[in-house]
Formats: sequence, C-alpha cells, structure tokens
Amino acid sequence: MDATNQNTPPKAEPLKIKVAGVERVFDINDPVLPDWVEKFALTSDGYPYDKKLKREDYEKSLEALQIELVKLQAWQQATGRRVLILFEGRDAAGKGGTIGAMRYYMNPRTARNVALPKPTETERGQWYFQRYVAHFPTTGEFVTFDRSWYNRAGVEPVMGFCTPEQHKEFLKEVPRFEKMIEGDGIHFFKFWLNLGQEMQLKRFHDRRHSPLTNWKFSPMDIAGITRWDDYTKARNLMIKETHTDYAPWTIVRSNDKRRARIEVIGHVLRSLDYTGRDLGVIGKADNKIIGQGPKRLQ
Ligand code: ADP
Ligand code: AMP
Ligand code: MLT
Repeated sequence: MDATNQNTPPKAEPLKIKVAGVERVFDINDPVLPDWVEKFALTSDGYPYDKKLKREDYEKSLEALQIELVKLQAWQQATGRRVLILFEGRDAAGKGGTIGAMRYYMNPRTARNVALPKPTETERGQWYFQRYVAHFPTTGEFVTFDRSWYNRAGVEPVMGFCTPEQHKEFLKEVPRFEKMIEGDGIHFFKFWLNLGQEMQLKRFHDRRHSPLTNWKFSPMDIAGITRWDDYTKARNLMIKETHTDYAPWTIVRSNDKRRARIEVIGHVLRSLDYTGRDLGVIGKADNKIIGQGPKRLQ
C-alpha cells in the first residue's frame, strides 16, 4: 500500500466498526460528523475531564513553558548537552502539533525535528536502526522524532510491513539499543500520546474535510480505522517490552491537545536541571493526564 499523502483525500467506503461495544457505520466522506462521535470524543478512553482546557489558560501556560524551553536551549548551547525526544501514538494523536508547540520559539538551527518517510530500498537493506541513528543529536542539539524506530512495533506489524519474526526481534533488541543511548549521555525521552477511539474518528473527519489539514489524511489512516484493536494489542506489547528504568515510556492522555502539550513540555523541563529553571512557573504534573509505564494504559 502506498502511504504517500495526497492532495485528494483517499477514497473510503462507509466502514462497519465496533466502538465502545456498539456496531457502528462510519462514513468519513459524509461532511456531517455523527452525533455519537461528537458526543463521546473528548471523554473517550476514560478521559478525566469533560471540558478542554480554556484557550486563555492554555496560551498563558504554554508561553511560560516556551520561555523555559528557550532557557533550556541556552543551557544546552553552553554545556553541549544533547536532548532526544521521540513521539509515538496512533494516527491523529497530536504528535506533530505537540512538537510544533515545543519548538515554536526555539532556535531552529539547533532544534531539529525528524519525520522520516517510509524506508527506501537501500534503507530496507540496512540494520533496522541505522537510518534513525543518522539523525541523532550532536553537541547542544535538541532533536524531536515524529514517529521513530517504534514503527516496527506499531504500523509495521499491524499493516504487514514487517514479518512477525522481525517484530519479535525488534522488541528484544530495543532495550539494548536504548541502553546505549542512555550510556552515551543523551537525555532521552519517549512519549506515547494516548487517544480515545471516538476522538480519533473526529480528528480524521476534521482533517478529511479541512483544506488546511487534508494533507495529513492518508490511506494509512483509513486502514487504521478498522484496525483499532490490533493497534491496541501492538501498543500494549510494545510498552510492556520496552519500558525500562533508563528509557521509560511517558504516557499522556491526549484527547485534549492543549493539556497534552502542557504536560509533555512540563515533563521535559522538570527532568532537566538547566540554568535558570523556574520550577514555580513549570508547576506540578497533572497525574490524571501524564504518568509512566504499562499501568497507565487500559
Ligand atoms: P503519518 O501518520 O506519520 O503522517 P502515515 O499515517 O501515512 O503517516 O504513515 C504512518 C507510518 O507508517 C509512517 O511512519 C510511514 O513511514 C510508515 N509506513 C507507511 N508505509 C510503509 C511501508 N510500506 N513500510 C514501512 N513503513 C511504512
Ligand atoms: P491547534 O491548536 O491544533 O489548532 O494547532 C495549533 C498550531 O498552531 C500548533 O501546531 C503550532 O504549531 C501553531 N502555533 C501558533 N501559535 C503558537 C504558539 N504561540 N505556540 C505554539 N504553537 C503555536
Ligand atoms: C499526529 O497529529 O498525531 C501526527 O503527527 C499525524 C498522524 O500520525 O496522523
């Protein structure tokens, strides 16, 4: 299947899916979003709030955190510290937007984002981790990955782009691979942005019908609609096998993009002792939204 994003949205028939135990028909091409999607989007997956964070509160908190990120970057420049942050999550979990909010005021010369396309023929012949390692940070760099080597624990096994043996081997190798990242002194973070099923459908629908975001809407998204449970299984296995004390998974409930962004950035800032850090401004983690390891998933 070709996952290249296209300007014309991919075609899709109405799909029969099971959502919260109920059989539903979902037609992505119908411009009207079904009531059951709208009604349950925010609270899907047991989301602990029934309202999004208010825009004014979000903007105020975000700006304060962005000031801290600028200080963090200055500290990295002064000390040479390297930061590597990877983002995983289902399609439409909000990885790109979170990375955007994080990097908005950072110097793009030393804060890079890496979003690799599907592997080329040459890359397919290489050591699996090779094309990712090539983008790791050098002295003073702040590098985000929008998706990562963890494709081999999610989209690849679910869509059949790798063999079950490759999947198994990958899960076995990851802790050793990440031990070396930690051993080299890189400040390494792994975020899983968690999303409810109705919220995913709402976001797919929004991007399908928006001229601004329909470039994001890919055949992979459509294929994923009917594979919700396969992705859940793959996710649970991945988190279980690759959550270590030196490279833990931070799980963030992301039905509200605003809260998710605040919590992700706050977590990074609380973890790094940079010059001028203002813990009062950063505030405490909201444990209803953010936490670590398999116990944070249902
Ligand atoms: P995104 O959600 O990152 O915008 P897609 O949903 O289209 O992009 O694709 C999800 C991921 O699946 C991407 O990282 C892409 O590189 C990967 N992918 C798509 N097709 C293949 C393939 N044939 N082999 C391996 N990986 C693939
Ligand atoms: P959304 O809230 O999902 O509609 O998208 C917000 C997008 O606007 C983000 O992805 C950012 O890239 C961008 N943006 C605009 N202003 C800011 C800001 N002050 N800080 C961070 N991101 C911003
Ligand atoms: C997101 O918004 O979660 C991603 O960046 C895009 C996607 O995976 O659909």
